Amino acid sequence: MTDDVLLVHGGNPLEGEIQIRGAKNLVPKAMVAALLGQGPSRLRNVPDIRDVKVVRGLLQLHGVTVRTGDEDGELILDPSHVESANVADIDAHAGSSRIPILFCGPLLHRLGHAFIPGLGGCDIGGRPVDFHFEVLRQFGATIEKHPQGTYLVAAQRLRGTKIELPYPSVGATEQVLLTAVLAEGVTELRNAAIEPEIVDLICVLQKMGAIISLGTDRTILVTGVDELDGYTHRALPDRLEAASWACAALATKGDIYVRGAEQIPMMTFLNTFRKVGGAYEIDDAGIRFWHPGGELKAIALETDVHPGFQTDWQQPLVVALTQAAGLSIVHETVYESRLGFTGALNQMGAHIQLYSECLGGTPCRFGARNFKHSAVVSGPSKLMGGELVIPDLRGGFSYLIAALAAEGTSTVHGIDLINRGYENFMDKLRDLGAHIELPSAAEVAEVQLTA
Ligand code: EPU
Repeated sequence: MTDDVLLVHGGNPLEGEIQIRGAKNLVPKAMVAALLGQGPSRLRNVPDIRDVKVVRGLLQLHGVTVRTGDEDGELILDPSHVESANVADIDAHAGSSRIPILFCGPLLHRLGHAFIPGLGGCDIGGRPVDFHFEVLRQFGATIEKHPQGTYLVAAQRLRGTKIELPYPSVGATEQVLLTAVLAEGVTELRNAAIEPEIVDLICVLQKMGAIISLGTDRTILVTGVDELDGYTHRALPDRLEAASWACAALATKGDIYVRGAEQIPMMTFLNTFRKVGGAYEIDDAGIRFWHPGGELKAIALETDVHPGFQTDWQQPLVVALTQAAGLSIVHETVYESRLGFTGALNQMGAHIQLYSECLGGTPCRFGARNFKHSAVVSGPSKLMGGELVIPDLRGGFSYLIAALAAEGTSTVHGIDLINRGYENFMDKLRDLGAHIELPSAAEVAEVQLTA
Protein backbone atom coordinates (compact mmCIF):
# COMPACT_ATOMS: atom_id res chain seq x y z
CA MET A 1 0.00 0.00 0.00
CA THR A 2 1.35 3.45 -0.82
CA ASP A 3 -0.02 6.39 1.09
CA ASP A 4 1.04 8.98 -1.46
CA VAL A 5 -1.08 7.97 -4.46
CA LEU A 6 -4.85 8.07 -4.60
CA LEU A 7 -7.12 6.53 -7.20
CA VAL A 8 -10.18 8.70 -7.68
CA HIS A 9 -13.18 7.32 -9.54
CA GLY A 10 -15.03 10.48 -10.56
CA GLY A 11 -18.41 11.41 -11.89
CA ASN A 12 -20.47 11.31 -8.67
CA PRO A 13 -21.77 14.33 -6.77
CA LEU A 14 -20.28 14.86 -3.31
CA GLU A 15 -23.10 14.92 -0.80
CA GLY A 16 -23.29 15.07 2.96
CA GLU A 17 -21.72 16.90 5.86
CA ILE A 18 -18.17 17.56 7.00
CA GLN A 19 -16.75 19.46 9.96
CA ILE A 20 -13.96 22.02 9.70
CA ARG A 21 -11.74 23.11 12.56
CA GLY A 22 -9.33 25.95 13.34
CA ALA A 23 -7.67 27.82 10.50
CA LYS A 24 -4.35 26.50 9.20
CA ASN A 25 -3.26 30.10 8.73
CA LEU A 26 -3.96 31.05 12.35
CA VAL A 27 -3.31 28.00 14.53
CA PRO A 28 0.48 27.63 13.99
CA LYS A 29 0.90 31.38 14.60
CA ALA A 30 -1.13 31.28 17.80
CA MET A 31 1.14 28.40 18.87
CA VAL A 32 4.19 30.62 18.24
CA ALA A 33 2.52 33.43 20.23
CA ALA A 34 2.46 31.10 23.26
CA LEU A 35 6.27 31.53 23.36
CA LEU A 36 5.74 35.14 24.43
CA GLY A 37 3.81 34.29 27.61
CA GLN A 38 5.11 33.76 31.12
CA GLY A 39 2.53 31.06 31.79
CA PRO A 40 0.82 28.27 29.81
CA SER A 41 -1.59 28.88 26.95
CA ARG A 42 -4.57 26.80 25.92
CA LEU A 43 -5.45 26.69 22.22
CA ARG A 44 -8.70 25.04 21.15
CA ASN A 45 -10.07 23.86 17.81
CA VAL A 46 -6.59 22.79 16.64
CA PRO A 47 -6.73 20.66 13.48
CA ASP A 48 -4.60 17.57 13.01
CA ILE A 49 -2.51 18.86 10.09
CA ARG A 50 1.19 18.76 9.34
CA ASP A 51 1.86 22.49 9.80
CA VAL A 52 0.73 22.08 13.42
CA LYS A 53 3.07 19.12 13.91
CA VAL A 54 6.03 21.07 12.50
CA VAL A 55 5.46 24.01 14.84
CA ARG A 56 4.86 21.71 17.79
CA GLY A 57 8.23 20.07 17.09
CA LEU A 58 10.00 23.42 16.83
CA LEU A 59 8.43 24.72 20.04
CA GLN A 60 9.48 21.56 21.88
CA LEU A 61 13.05 22.01 20.65
CA HIS A 62 12.96 25.42 22.34
CA GLY A 63 11.86 24.02 25.70
CA VAL A 64 8.12 24.60 25.33
CA THR A 65 6.06 21.73 26.74
CA VAL A 66 3.18 20.91 24.40
CA ARG A 67 0.47 18.46 25.41
CA THR A 68 -3.11 17.77 24.46
CA GLY A 69 -5.88 19.03 26.72
CA ASP A 70 -9.12 17.35 27.80
CA GLU A 71 -11.15 18.74 24.91
CA ASP A 72 -10.68 17.17 21.48
CA GLY A 73 -8.39 19.50 19.47
CA GLU A 74 -7.02 21.31 22.54
CA LEU A 75 -3.32 22.00 23.01
CA ILE A 76 -1.67 23.27 26.17
CA LEU A 77 1.60 25.05 25.53
CA ASP A 78 3.85 25.85 28.47
CA PRO A 79 6.80 28.18 27.74
CA SER A 80 8.05 28.41 31.36
CA HIS A 81 11.41 26.90 30.40
CA VAL A 82 12.26 28.39 27.00
CA GLU A 83 15.83 27.61 26.00
CA SER A 84 18.13 27.76 22.99
CA ALA A 85 17.74 24.86 20.63
CA ASN A 86 20.51 22.95 18.94
CA VAL A 87 21.03 24.41 15.45
CA ALA A 88 21.29 20.97 13.84
CA ASP A 89 17.95 19.98 15.42
CA ILE A 90 16.29 23.16 14.14
CA ASP A 91 17.86 22.61 10.76
CA ALA A 92 16.14 19.23 10.52
CA HIS A 93 12.93 21.27 10.05
CA ALA A 94 14.36 23.17 7.05
CA GLY A 95 11.98 23.29 4.14
CA SER A 96 9.03 22.00 6.15
CA SER A 97 6.95 25.16 6.50
CA ARG A 98 7.01 28.97 6.38
CA ILE A 99 6.09 29.37 10.05
CA PRO A 100 9.66 29.20 11.49
CA ILE A 101 10.27 32.77 10.28
CA LEU A 102 7.70 33.89 12.88
CA PHE A 103 9.82 32.53 15.73
CA CYS A 104 12.23 35.48 15.26
CA GLY A 105 10.55 38.14 17.43
CA PRO A 106 9.48 35.83 20.28
CA LEU A 107 12.92 34.15 20.48
CA LEU A 108 14.72 37.50 20.35
CA HIS A 109 12.59 38.65 23.28
CA ARG A 110 13.00 35.45 25.27
CA LEU A 111 16.62 34.55 24.50
CA GLY A 112 18.23 37.52 22.75
CA HIS A 113 19.03 35.37 19.73
CA ALA A 114 17.35 33.11 17.18
CA PHE A 115 18.27 30.69 14.43
CA ILE A 116 15.83 30.24 11.58
CA PRO A 117 16.22 27.31 9.13
CA GLY A 118 15.55 27.48 5.40
CA LEU A 119 11.81 27.88 4.86
CA GLY A 120 9.34 25.63 3.10
CA GLY A 121 5.76 26.21 2.02
CA CYS A 122 4.04 25.99 -1.31
CA ASP A 123 5.85 26.70 -4.54
CA ILE A 124 3.46 29.33 -5.89
CA GLY A 125 5.90 32.16 -6.46
CA GLY A 126 9.27 33.41 -5.22
CA ARG A 127 7.94 33.93 -1.67
CA PRO A 128 10.79 36.13 -0.42
CA VAL A 129 11.08 37.15 3.26
CA ASP A 130 12.77 40.51 2.70
CA PHE A 131 9.97 42.43 4.46
CA HIS A 132 10.39 40.23 7.54
CA PHE A 133 14.12 40.87 7.91
CA GLU A 134 13.72 44.56 7.15
CA VAL A 135 11.17 45.04 9.95
CA LEU A 136 13.27 43.01 12.41
CA ARG A 137 16.23 45.30 11.63
CA GLN A 138 13.99 48.29 12.32
CA PHE A 139 13.19 46.83 15.74
CA GLY A 140 16.95 46.68 16.40
CA ALA A 141 17.87 43.07 15.54
CA THR A 142 21.06 42.22 13.68
CA ILE A 143 20.76 39.54 11.05
CA GLU A 144 23.37 37.27 9.53
CA LYS A 145 22.53 34.94 6.70
CA HIS A 146 24.42 31.65 6.42
CA PRO A 147 23.98 28.79 3.95
CA GLN A 148 22.22 26.66 6.60
CA GLY A 149 19.90 29.40 7.87
CA THR A 150 19.70 32.86 9.42
CA TYR A 151 21.10 33.98 12.78
CA LEU A 152 19.49 36.93 14.54
CA VAL A 153 20.68 38.75 17.64
CA ALA A 154 19.08 41.42 19.84
CA ALA A 155 21.91 42.99 21.85
CA GLN A 156 19.31 44.86 23.92
CA ARG A 157 15.53 45.00 24.23
CA LEU A 158 13.93 45.53 20.82
CA ARG A 159 12.42 49.00 20.32
CA GLY A 160 9.05 49.98 18.85
CA THR A 161 9.30 51.67 15.48
CA LYS A 162 7.36 53.11 12.53
CA ILE A 163 6.97 50.65 9.68
CA GLU A 164 5.29 50.90 6.29
CA LEU A 165 5.08 47.60 4.43
CA PRO A 166 5.63 47.78 0.65
CA TYR A 167 2.69 45.33 0.30
CA PRO A 168 0.14 44.19 2.92
CA SER A 169 1.91 40.88 3.52
CA VAL A 170 0.20 38.50 5.95
CA GLY A 171 3.44 37.02 7.28
CA ALA A 172 5.23 40.36 7.65
CA THR A 173 2.23 41.81 9.51
CA GLU A 174 2.34 38.82 11.88
CA GLN A 175 6.08 39.29 12.28
CA VAL A 176 5.50 42.89 13.36
CA LEU A 177 2.73 41.94 15.80
CA LEU A 178 4.68 39.10 17.43
CA THR A 179 7.69 41.40 17.84
CA ALA A 180 6.04 44.72 18.74
CA VAL A 181 3.99 43.40 21.67
CA LEU A 182 7.06 43.08 23.92
CA ALA A 183 9.20 45.81 22.30
CA GLU A 184 9.90 49.01 24.19
CA GLY A 185 7.53 51.83 23.20
CA VAL A 186 5.02 52.20 20.42
CA THR A 187 5.04 50.53 17.00
CA GLU A 188 3.02 51.99 14.18
CA LEU A 189 2.45 49.65 11.25
CA ARG A 190 1.08 51.02 7.99
CA ASN A 191 -0.16 49.04 5.00
CA ALA A 192 -0.79 46.05 7.25
CA ALA A 193 -2.63 42.90 6.17
CA ILE A 194 -6.01 42.60 7.90
CA GLU A 195 -7.03 39.04 7.05
CA PRO A 196 -9.45 37.48 9.60
CA GLU A 197 -6.63 35.19 10.76
CA ILE A 198 -4.57 38.28 11.61
CA VAL A 199 -7.44 39.79 13.57
CA ASP A 200 -7.73 36.48 15.44
CA LEU A 201 -3.99 36.58 16.21
CA ILE A 202 -4.50 40.10 17.56
CA CYS A 203 -7.28 38.69 19.79
CA VAL A 204 -4.85 36.03 21.07
CA LEU A 205 -2.20 38.65 21.85
CA GLN A 206 -4.72 40.95 23.51
CA LYS A 207 -5.80 38.07 25.76
CA MET A 208 -2.13 37.71 26.72
CA GLY A 209 -2.00 41.34 27.84
CA ALA A 210 -0.87 43.14 24.66
CA ILE A 211 -2.14 46.59 23.71
CA ILE A 212 -3.00 46.61 20.00
CA SER A 213 -5.42 48.83 18.12
CA LEU A 214 -6.57 48.07 14.63
CA GLY A 215 -7.12 51.43 12.97
CA THR A 216 -8.61 52.43 9.65
CA ASP A 217 -6.60 52.37 6.42
CA ARG A 218 -4.59 49.26 7.31
CA THR A 219 -2.87 50.91 10.27
CA ILE A 220 -2.08 48.97 13.44
CA LEU A 221 -0.76 50.57 16.63
CA VAL A 222 0.99 48.43 19.24
CA THR A 223 2.05 49.76 22.63
CA GLY A 224 4.76 47.44 23.93
CA VAL A 225 4.33 45.93 27.41
CA ASP A 226 6.94 44.41 29.75
CA GLU A 227 5.36 41.03 30.17
CA LEU A 228 2.66 38.82 28.66
CA ASP A 229 0.73 35.95 30.19
CA GLY A 230 -0.70 32.79 28.62
CA TYR A 231 -4.05 32.76 26.80
CA THR A 232 -7.10 30.59 26.33
CA HIS A 233 -8.44 30.82 22.81
CA ARG A 234 -10.61 28.94 20.34
CA ALA A 235 -9.14 29.33 16.85
CA LEU A 236 -11.39 30.81 14.19
CA PRO A 237 -12.62 28.25 11.64
CA ASP A 238 -10.72 27.57 8.44
CA ARG A 239 -12.51 29.68 5.82
CA LEU A 240 -10.06 28.47 3.16
CA GLU A 241 -10.91 24.83 3.75
CA ALA A 242 -14.63 25.72 3.86
CA ALA A 243 -14.37 27.34 0.43
CA SER A 244 -12.52 24.32 -0.94
CA TRP A 245 -15.45 22.07 0.01
CA ALA A 246 -17.90 24.62 -1.41
CA CYS A 247 -16.08 24.47 -4.75
CA ALA A 248 -16.08 20.67 -4.58
CA ALA A 249 -19.88 20.77 -4.19
CA LEU A 250 -20.21 23.10 -7.16
CA ALA A 251 -17.85 21.26 -9.51
CA THR A 252 -19.36 17.81 -8.78
CA LYS A 253 -23.00 19.05 -8.84
CA GLY A 254 -23.14 18.11 -5.18
CA ASP A 255 -24.45 19.39 -1.87
CA ILE A 256 -22.15 19.78 1.16
CA TYR A 257 -22.93 21.12 4.60
CA VAL A 258 -19.71 22.56 6.07
CA ARG A 259 -20.19 22.49 9.83
CA GLY A 260 -18.15 25.21 11.49
CA ALA A 261 -18.04 27.58 8.48
CA GLU A 262 -18.87 31.20 9.28
CA GLN A 263 -20.36 33.94 7.16
CA ILE A 264 -18.33 37.05 8.02
CA PRO A 265 -14.85 35.84 7.05
CA MET A 266 -16.33 34.30 3.88
CA MET A 267 -18.45 37.23 2.65
CA THR A 268 -16.40 37.89 -0.45
CA PHE A 269 -16.30 34.21 -1.34
CA LEU A 270 -20.06 33.86 -0.83
CA ASN A 271 -20.77 36.73 -3.24
CA THR A 272 -18.59 35.15 -5.91
CA PHE A 273 -20.06 31.70 -5.31
CA ARG A 274 -23.53 33.13 -5.89
CA LYS A 275 -22.43 35.00 -9.04
CA VAL A 276 -21.12 31.73 -10.51
CA GLY A 277 -24.53 30.19 -9.85
CA GLY A 278 -23.85 28.26 -6.65
CA ALA A 279 -26.41 28.20 -3.85
CA TYR A 280 -25.75 28.46 -0.13
CA GLU A 281 -27.66 28.67 3.12
CA ILE A 282 -26.20 29.89 6.40
CA ASP A 283 -27.30 28.77 9.84
CA ASP A 284 -25.84 29.05 13.33
CA ALA A 285 -23.64 25.97 12.99
CA GLY A 286 -22.34 26.15 9.44
CA ILE A 287 -23.00 26.78 5.76
CA ARG A 288 -24.61 24.46 3.23
CA PHE A 289 -23.22 24.83 -0.32
CA TRP A 290 -24.82 23.21 -3.34
CA HIS A 291 -25.22 23.20 -7.10
CA PRO A 292 -28.85 24.17 -7.72
CA GLY A 293 -29.02 22.66 -11.22
CA GLY A 294 -28.88 24.46 -14.54
CA GLU A 295 -25.80 26.11 -16.02
CA LEU A 296 -23.07 27.78 -14.00
CA LYS A 297 -22.14 31.30 -15.14
CA ALA A 298 -18.73 32.56 -16.24
CA ILE A 299 -17.33 35.45 -14.16
CA ALA A 300 -14.42 37.90 -14.00
CA LEU A 301 -12.40 37.40 -10.85
CA GLU A 302 -9.43 39.13 -9.31
CA THR A 303 -7.64 37.81 -6.23
CA ASP A 304 -6.49 40.35 -3.66
CA VAL A 305 -5.61 40.85 -0.02
CA HIS A 306 -8.53 40.85 2.44
CA PRO A 307 -11.29 42.00 2.07
CA GLY A 308 -10.72 41.03 -1.56
CA PHE A 309 -11.11 37.53 -3.00
CA GLN A 310 -8.52 35.43 -1.16
CA THR A 311 -5.83 33.89 -3.39
CA ASP A 312 -6.24 30.52 -1.63
CA TRP A 313 -9.82 30.34 -2.88
CA GLN A 314 -8.74 30.81 -6.47
CA GLN A 315 -7.45 27.35 -7.37
CA PRO A 316 -10.52 25.35 -6.22
CA LEU A 317 -12.86 27.89 -7.81
CA VAL A 318 -11.03 27.63 -11.17
CA VAL A 319 -11.98 23.94 -11.28
CA ALA A 320 -15.64 24.89 -10.80
CA LEU A 321 -15.27 27.58 -13.50
CA THR A 322 -14.31 24.89 -16.04
CA GLN A 323 -17.98 23.86 -15.69
CA ALA A 324 -19.39 27.38 -16.22
CA ALA A 325 -20.82 28.47 -19.58
CA GLY A 326 -18.72 31.11 -21.35
CA LEU A 327 -15.37 32.79 -20.73
CA SER A 328 -14.23 33.41 -17.17
CA ILE A 329 -11.30 35.71 -16.50
CA VAL A 330 -9.08 35.15 -13.48
CA HIS A 331 -6.42 37.70 -12.49
CA GLU A 332 -4.11 36.44 -9.71
CA THR A 333 -2.53 39.49 -8.04
CA VAL A 334 -1.10 38.01 -4.82
CA TYR A 335 1.28 35.31 -6.17
CA GLU A 336 3.03 35.46 -9.51
CA SER A 337 2.91 31.69 -10.17
CA ARG A 338 -0.35 30.35 -8.83
CA LEU A 339 -1.89 29.33 -12.13
CA GLY A 340 0.61 26.67 -13.22
CA PHE A 341 -1.71 23.97 -11.88
CA THR A 342 -4.08 24.62 -14.81
CA GLY A 343 -1.84 22.69 -17.27
CA ALA A 344 -2.99 19.37 -15.80
CA LEU A 345 -6.65 20.50 -15.92
CA ASN A 346 -6.21 21.13 -19.66
CA GLN A 347 -4.92 17.58 -20.05
CA MET A 348 -8.17 16.43 -18.44
CA GLY A 349 -10.19 18.36 -21.03
CA ALA A 350 -10.42 21.89 -19.61
CA HIS A 351 -9.74 24.94 -21.81
CA ILE A 352 -7.62 27.36 -19.83
CA GLN A 353 -5.25 29.82 -21.45
CA LEU A 354 -2.67 31.73 -19.39
CA TYR A 355 -1.52 35.30 -20.06
CA SER A 356 1.22 37.58 -18.70
CA GLU A 357 -1.00 40.65 -19.04
CA CYS A 358 -3.20 41.85 -16.18
CA LEU A 359 -6.55 40.78 -17.59
CA GLY A 360 -9.76 42.14 -16.15
CA GLY A 361 -8.93 45.77 -15.51
CA THR A 362 -6.64 46.63 -12.62
CA PRO A 363 -2.89 46.46 -13.32
CA CYS A 364 -0.96 44.62 -10.59
CA ARG A 365 2.70 44.17 -9.51
CA PHE A 366 3.22 41.30 -11.95
CA GLY A 367 1.97 42.83 -15.21
CA ALA A 368 5.30 44.28 -16.34
CA ARG A 369 7.31 41.25 -15.22
CA ASN A 370 6.22 38.60 -17.68
CA PHE A 371 4.55 36.28 -15.15
CA LYS A 372 1.66 34.18 -16.43
CA HIS A 373 -0.73 35.36 -13.76
CA SER A 374 -3.99 35.80 -15.69
CA ALA A 375 -6.19 33.04 -17.05
CA VAL A 376 -9.12 32.73 -19.41
CA VAL A 377 -11.24 29.69 -18.63
CA SER A 378 -13.57 28.62 -21.41
CA GLY A 379 -16.40 26.31 -20.40
CA PRO A 380 -18.24 24.18 -19.83
CA SER A 381 -15.74 21.38 -20.46
CA LYS A 382 -16.20 17.68 -19.99
CA LEU A 383 -13.35 16.55 -17.74
CA MET A 384 -11.84 13.08 -18.13
CA GLY A 385 -9.78 11.26 -15.51
CA GLY A 386 -6.03 11.78 -15.77
CA GLU A 387 -2.63 11.29 -14.21
CA LEU A 388 -2.07 14.17 -11.79
CA VAL A 389 0.96 15.18 -9.74
CA ILE A 390 0.13 17.52 -6.89
CA PRO A 391 2.07 20.79 -7.19
CA ASP A 392 1.08 22.64 -3.96
CA LEU A 393 -1.52 22.52 -1.19
CA ARG A 394 -4.49 24.30 -2.77
CA GLY A 395 -3.57 23.14 -6.27
CA GLY A 396 -3.52 19.61 -4.87
CA PHE A 397 -6.98 19.86 -3.37
CA SER A 398 -8.15 21.38 -6.66
CA TYR A 399 -6.85 18.30 -8.50
CA LEU A 400 -8.93 16.13 -6.19
CA ILE A 401 -11.99 18.22 -7.05
CA ALA A 402 -11.23 17.94 -10.77
CA ALA A 403 -10.74 14.17 -10.46
CA LEU A 404 -14.05 13.83 -8.60
CA ALA A 405 -15.86 15.92 -11.23
CA ALA A 406 -14.29 14.02 -14.12
CA GLU A 407 -15.54 10.93 -15.85
CA GLY A 408 -13.38 7.85 -15.26
CA THR A 409 -10.46 7.21 -12.95
CA SER A 410 -7.64 9.59 -12.06
CA THR A 411 -4.35 8.70 -10.43
CA VAL A 412 -3.32 11.49 -8.10
CA HIS A 413 0.31 11.48 -6.95
CA GLY A 414 1.75 13.36 -3.99
CA ILE A 415 -1.43 13.42 -1.90
CA ASP A 416 0.58 13.56 1.33
CA LEU A 417 1.09 17.28 0.64
CA ILE A 418 -2.62 17.82 1.23
CA ASN A 419 -2.15 16.70 4.85
CA ARG A 420 -0.26 19.97 5.41
CA GLY A 421 -3.52 21.90 5.50
CA TYR A 422 -6.59 19.62 5.22
CA GLU A 423 -7.43 17.53 8.25
CA ASN A 424 -8.54 13.92 7.55
CA PHE A 425 -9.39 14.82 3.97
CA MET A 426 -9.71 11.21 2.86
CA ASP A 427 -12.21 10.34 5.60
CA LYS A 428 -14.17 13.47 4.74
CA LEU A 429 -14.18 12.56 1.04
CA ARG A 430 -15.45 9.06 1.86
CA ASP A 431 -18.14 10.54 4.14
CA LEU A 432 -19.30 12.61 1.18
CA GLY A 433 -19.59 9.52 -1.00
CA ALA A 434 -16.39 9.92 -3.02
CA HIS A 435 -15.05 6.76 -4.61
CA ILE A 436 -11.39 6.83 -3.69
CA GLU A 437 -8.84 4.16 -2.92
CA LEU A 438 -5.26 3.95 -1.80
CA PRO A 439 -3.76 1.48 -4.28
CA SER A 440 -0.97 -0.98 -3.56
CA ALA A 441 2.48 -0.17 -4.97
CA ALA A 442 1.97 -2.92 -7.60
CA GLU A 443 -1.36 -1.39 -8.67
CA VAL A 444 0.28 2.03 -9.03
CA ALA A 445 3.01 0.53 -11.22
CA GLU A 446 0.36 -1.17 -13.35
CA VAL A 447 -1.62 2.06 -13.81
CA GLN A 448 1.59 3.82 -14.84
CA LEU A 449 2.42 1.13 -17.40
CA THR A 450 -0.99 1.27 -19.00
CA ALA A 451 -1.25 5.10 -18.93
N1 EPU B 1 6.13 39.12 -0.04
C1 EPU B 1 7.33 39.71 -0.33
N2 EPU B 1 8.25 39.82 0.69
C2 EPU B 1 8.02 39.34 1.95
C3 EPU B 1 6.76 38.75 2.22
C4 EPU B 1 5.84 38.64 1.21
O1 EPU B 1 7.58 40.14 -1.46
O2 EPU B 1 8.89 39.46 2.81
C5 EPU B 1 5.12 38.96 -1.13
C6 EPU B 1 4.93 37.48 -1.49
O3 EPU B 1 5.90 37.04 -2.40
C7 EPU B 1 3.54 37.48 -2.08
C8 EPU B 1 2.82 38.57 -1.27
O4 EPU B 1 3.84 39.36 -0.68
O5 EPU B 1 3.57 37.86 -3.43
C9 EPU B 1 1.90 38.04 -0.20
O6 EPU B 1 2.59 37.18 0.68
P1 EPU B 1 2.20 37.06 2.22
O7 EPU B 1 3.38 37.44 3.03
O8 EPU B 1 0.93 37.78 2.43
O9 EPU B 1 1.93 35.52 2.35
P2 EPU B 1 2.43 34.53 3.47
O10 EPU B 1 2.34 35.14 4.82
O11 EPU B 1 3.71 33.89 3.06
C10 EPU B 1 0.07 33.57 4.03
C11 EPU B 1 -0.58 32.21 3.96
C12 EPU B 1 -0.83 31.83 2.53
C13 EPU B 1 -1.74 32.88 1.90
C14 EPU B 1 -1.09 34.27 2.03
C15 EPU B 1 -1.97 35.37 1.51
C16 EPU B 1 0.29 31.13 5.90
C17 EPU B 1 1.17 30.07 6.47
N3 EPU B 1 0.30 31.24 4.59
O12 EPU B 1 1.31 33.42 3.35
O13 EPU B 1 -1.53 30.60 2.56
O14 EPU B 1 -1.90 32.58 0.54
O15 EPU B 1 -0.79 34.53 3.40
O16 EPU B 1 -3.18 35.42 2.19
O17 EPU B 1 -0.41 31.82 6.62
C18 EPU B 1 -2.24 28.53 1.76
O18 EPU B 1 -2.93 28.47 2.80
O19 EPU B 1 -2.31 27.67 0.84
C19 EPU B 1 -1.29 29.62 1.62
C20 EPU B 1 -0.36 29.68 0.67
